[in-house]
Amino acid sequence: MGVALAYACSILVGIFVICPWMCLGNNNITSMQWRRQPQLKKCNVYEGSWVFDKSYPLYNSSACPHIRKEFDCQKYGRPDNLYLKYRWQPQDCHLPRFDARDFLERFMGKKIMFIGDSVSLNHWQSLICLLHAVVPDSSIEQHTDGSVTTSTFQDYGVSVMLFHSTYLVDIEEEQIGRVLKIDSIKNGQIWKDIDILVFNTWLWWYRRGPKQPWDYIQDGDQILQDMDRMVAFQKGLTTWANWVNSDVNPNKTKVFFQGISPSHYYGKEWNEPGVRNCSKETQPISGSTYSTGLPQAAYVVKDVLKTITKTVHLLDITTLSQLRKDAHPSSYNGFRGMDCTHWCVAGLPDTWNQLLYAALIAKTRRNS
Ligand SMILES: *[C@@H]1O[C@H](CO)[C@@H](O)[C@H](O)[C@H]1NC(C)=O
Ligand SMILES: *[C@@H]1O[C@H](CO)[C@@H](O)[C@H](O)[C@H]1NC(C)=O
Ligand SMILES: *[C@@H]1O[C@H](CO)[C@@H](O)[C@H](O)[C@H]1NC(C)=O
Repeated sequence: MGVALAYACSILVGIFVICPWMCLGNNNITSMQWRRQPQLKKCNVYEGSWVFDKSYPLYNSSACPHIRKEFDCQKYGRPDNLYLKYRWQPQDCHLPRFDARDFLERFMGKKIMFIGDSVSLNHWQSLICLLHAVVPDSSIEQHTDGSVTTSTFQDYGVSVMLFHSTYLVDIEEEQIGRVLKIDSIKNGQIWKDIDILVFNTWLWWYRRGPKQPWDYIQDGDQILQDMDRMVAFQKGLTTWANWVNSDVNPNKTKVFFQGISPSHYYGKEWNEPGVRNCSKETQPISGSTYSTGLPQAAYVVKDVLKTITKTVHLLDITTLSQLRKDAHPSSYNGFRGMDCTHWCVAGLPDTWNQLLYAALIAKTRRNS
């Protein structure tokens, strides 16, 4: 059931219980209903707080095969499990619970693709585990072809795909070296045939030194050694936005952009100055705001999305993820490095998928 509809029903039921005559007998709309109405449209599912819910997590991660060693925190010895037991509660409405069987039936025969860096990998693995929980192992087929890894839920013909791309725009090998082409997006040819696209890019835009996967940036005719990275991000994202405007057929394809996924290396952001990683964090931040506000990149994302004339849904997970300093692997992963950037699976990315599902079912109803 859609968020808006669920909320409308809960209000109607609420009014009915308190004073049933309002809903019976005549067509007068009470002033109470009128006053409530504007709230319906206003409910922003991305504003809220984390609440304890003993029915969580939504699946048992040890039953989900092939979780990457980077994300399988329980398997690699994370001793606490409180972090698995939080549900996102929007301020003004309820999110529908993730219904894996409904998801598979609703999107029968469709392809859904996550496109981006390792945060997309994180997001994709969570969706596979959520769906895996309701079908037999034997009905899931996985294969990799170049940059694309596909898990097919064969009984439903649903393909959940991952397209690895650090910047969305192109990197090409040329005589001078590797060139990041911030105004070229050739893979769009592949993406535009997919039914549901979920984009993400951010992590790599500030990489420097040996981890930087390019030697030069090309912007139009200019070849540059480097440029302001936030400007580069804005330009690259604009190339993507122009591609959406020119190449996406909104009758076929629904487009999402995932907001900036935050990391937690600076304890002063949650009032523990001196702390330099997330290793001691076992609980979310209470309330609905984070001390630093949104990172600058999140504003760049919002500004660029405004230039898109087609419907693109911002999966605005930044603030709700900022509150989850407890949800990173820290050292409970298969390589033992300290990781306060990615997220445990099961864990926070399940909520990203719950929000994706809520947005999709709201759209499906409107469009059909
Ligand atoms: C999760 O699954 C594993 C193996 O399938 C099982 O041993 C464990 O008890 C399960 N955990 C919960 C909380 O159900
Ligand atoms: C999308 O559908 C509408 C209404 O059916 C139609 O007018 C429009 O041409 C279609 N657009 C594309 C790009 O196919
Ligand atoms: C993580 O932080 C703890 C305490 O804040 C510190 O003792 C430890 O050395 C840090 N570990 C890494 C790998 O940074």
